[in-house]
Amino acid sequence: MQLPTPLRRSIEEELSACDGGKLRAASARLSECYRGGAAPAALPSPEQRAAYLAVRLPANFAAVAEALRWTHQACSDEIGSVLDLGSGPGTALWAAVQEFPSIQSITGCERDPHFIDAARRLAAHADQPALRAAAWIQGDLTTAIPEGSWDLVVCSYALNELREAQRAEFTRKAWARTAKLLVFIEPGTKQGFANILAVRTRLLAEGATLAAPCPNALACPMARNEDWCHFPARVERTADHRRLKDATLGHEDEKFSYIAFSRSEIQQNADARIVRHPRVFSGYTQLTLCLEGEIANTAVTRSKKEDWRRLKRLGWGDEWRAATPAGSDSPHREP
Ligand SMILES: C[S@@+](CC[C@H](N)C(=O)[O-])C[C@H]1O[C@@H](n2cnc3c(N)ncnc32)[C@H](O)[C@@H]1O
Repeated sequence: MQLPTPLRRSIEEELSACDGGKLRAASARLSECYRGGAAPAALPSPEQRAAYLAVRLPANFAAVAEALRWTHQACSDEIGSVLDLGSGPGTALWAAVQEFPSIQSITGCERDPHFIDAARRLAAHADQPALRAAAWIQGDLTTAIPEGSWDLVVCSYALNELREAQRAEFTRKAWARTAKLLVFIEPGTKQGFANILAVRTRLLAEGATLAAPCPNALACPMARNEDWCHFPARVERTADHRRLKDATLGHEDEKFSYIAFSRSEIQQNADARIVRHPRVFSGYTQLTLCLEGEIANTAVTRSKKEDWRRLKRLGWGDEWRAATPAGSDSPHREP
């Protein structure tokens, strides 16, 4: 996944205004924090915020873009407006306008005024007039979510920055602002998934309809197996990104957990989701599926021509229509 060109160029411009040595040190500290499983509480210096743009924004953008793509596959709602809660430099809004070009009205809500300034500078270069005209509201998510209603409400990598005791009320308010779709994206860690699972339980109790990734509203089999549901997003590294991370590979894989809810009924296209990388063997591919409240393995053999062809375009995270004919191709459940 590549960043949109205007976003990539404006990040380069932000980085070029920083002291190289300080930027490198800030990037190393930031990456270390994320490797340790915790986002830093604040990014007070310009170099720390620039480091975020260089090494975290691309990963979050890729994760949100994938989550929105899968959400869009599950629901065909026309999206005209979006609210981003904990918008930082506006990462999720760039992904939202890419997935839903029909968006005309954009609001970001963020407590850090420096991030709002950065979001404004980046958005000024966007191709989409809606992003250039976005409204940026400075506010605390725990006390002052903007009043109103938006077709899409998104909260990307911010839920984990709220205290546990604040999350239930915040989730309820986010749903109250949602006219059509609400999407949470969190790091693909056990803790990130635990946050997503808690949102799932709360909003199902409020009557929300699950849109993705769960194929149904049955009890989560990942949680039962003490596993965590997460997905990959491949991020293409820019030259700055590689340099600041001392990396040689041209890409990295960001792991994320997400959940999307709809206000309307969903016509499920599929009854299962692929929850691991498919494993390719001679003559067959093994899929691990979330299916009917279980984690199930199934083999798709070359002899099943249509499924075999379909599988070429699919991977971890995609929906799957589980044809379950009798015999060896029938999914078998993990204990
Ligand atoms: C890890 S950053 C994610 C930013 C952006 N959503 C992204 O995906 O790149 C988390 C953001 O949430 C904001 N945030 C955390 N707690 C907040 C609160 N109580 N009110 C408003 N914003 C908050 C932080 O300032 C930060 O910009």
